[in-house]
Amino acid sequence: MEYAAKITGTGSAFPQNRVSNIDISEKLALSGIETNDSWIRERTGIAERRMSMPGNSEEHNSSLGLAAAWNALKMAEKTPLDIDQIIYSTCTPDTILPSTACWLQHKLGAAKAWGMDLNAACSGFIYGLSIADQFICSGKAKTTLVIGAEVLSSIINWSDRSSCILFGDGAGAAVVERTQATSDQRILSTHLLSDGALWEMLHVPAGGSALPATPEIALQHLNKIQMNGREIFKVAVRTLSSFALKALKKNQMTVDMLDWFIPHQANFRIIEAVAKRLNLPMEKVLINVDRYGNTSSATVPTMLDEAVRDGRIQKGQTVLLDAFGAGLTYGSVLLRW
Ligand code: ACO
Repeated sequence: MEYAAKITGTGSAFPQNRVSNIDISEKLALSGIETNDSWIRERTGIAERRMSMPGNSEEHNSSLGLAAAWNALKMAEKTPLDIDQIIYSTCTPDTILPSTACWLQHKLGAAKAWGMDLNAACSGFIYGLSIADQFICSGKAKTTLVIGAEVLSSIINWSDRSSCILFGDGAGAAVVERTQATSDQRILSTHLLSDGALWEMLHVPAGGSALPATPEIALQHLNKIQMNGREIFKVAVRTLSSFALKALKKNQMTVDMLDWFIPHQANFRIIEAVAKRLNLPMEKVLINVDRYGNTSSATVPTMLDEAVRDGRIQKGQTVLLDAFGAGLTYGSVLLRW
C-alpha cells in the first residue's frame, strides 16, 4: 500500500497582549532610541504584534502550542491519543531540557506519541511538515501533530531598533494524517535546504553551550537576536522565489495554477517583491504580518489556519507554503487542500 499525507486540521493561538508600533516607540524612547509608527509600517508592513506576558504560564511557548493543538485536533476530529508523533518547531523553547514537544505531550495527554523539537527557525514548520510527510508516506506514522510556535519576545534585542520592531509571539498547529497515495488532497512535494555559511546574518551568539549566558553577556545583549536586515532582505527575496519555482517545477505546474501562496511573514516588502518576481497577483498572497509581525516558525501555520477557517482556502485548491529562516534555512511545501 502506498501512502500520502494530508492536513486534516489546523489551529492557532496568540498571547492576549497587543503591542502597537506606538507602544514600541514609547518603550524605546525610554532608552533614548527613536522610532515611529510610520517608519515601521512603511518599511515592514507591521502595525502590531502579540507578546506573551513574562511569568504567565498560560502564555509559555508550550501553552500557546497547546491551545493551537487543541484547535487543530478539534477540526480534524481527533483526540490526543490518536497522535503518534509530535514535531515541534521552535527556536524559543520553554526549556533546554526537556524539549517543548515533551512539555506539550504532557499537557495534551498525548500518551501514545513520541515527540521532538526541531530548530530551523522561520522555516521550521515547513521542515516539520516534510518530516511528517516522510514518516507518513513510509508507513511509520499515521497521525502527526506539527507545531510551529515561538515566544520571540524572550530574545528580542531592545537596544537594536532595526530588529526589535519585527518580532511577535504565537503558535500554529496542523494535524497531518495518512491518506492514499492516489488521493487528490495531499502534500504534493517538499523541498528543503540549509546554508550554514550564512549563519551570521541572523543569530543569537550566547545562551548555548558555546557561550553560556552570564550577567556580562546579557548586558551586551549577546543572548538576543543579532541581524543583518539588509542582507537578509536580499537573500529572502531570492530564495523564496526560487523555492516557489522548485515546487511548481517538480509538479509540472505554472504560477497561474496556484490558488494561494503563503510565504513566511517577515516583512510585507519582502512578500511583495517575491510576488512581483513570480508574477503572482497579490490577491493570491495570504498576509498576516500586519497584525502579528514575524512570529518565525508560527507565521505559516497561523496564516494557513486563518485562511482555512475564514473559508478563503477551499477543498481542492492548490496552496504553496514557502519560507526562509536563520541558519540560513529554506523550504517549500506544495499541497492540494
Ligand atoms: N525606526 C526608525 N529608523 C530606523 C529603524 C526604526 N525602527 N530601524 C532602522 N532605522 C534607520 C536606520 O538607522 C537607517 O538610518 P540611516 O540611513 O540614518 O543610517 C535607516 O533607517 C535605513 O535603514 P535600513 O537598515 O537601510 O532600512 P531598511 O529599509 O533595510 O529596513 C529592515 C530595515 C526593516 C530591518 C529591513 O532591512 C528588513 O525587513 N530586512 C529583513 C529582515 C527580516 O525580515 N528579518 C526577520 C528575521 S529573518 C527571518 O524571519 C528568518
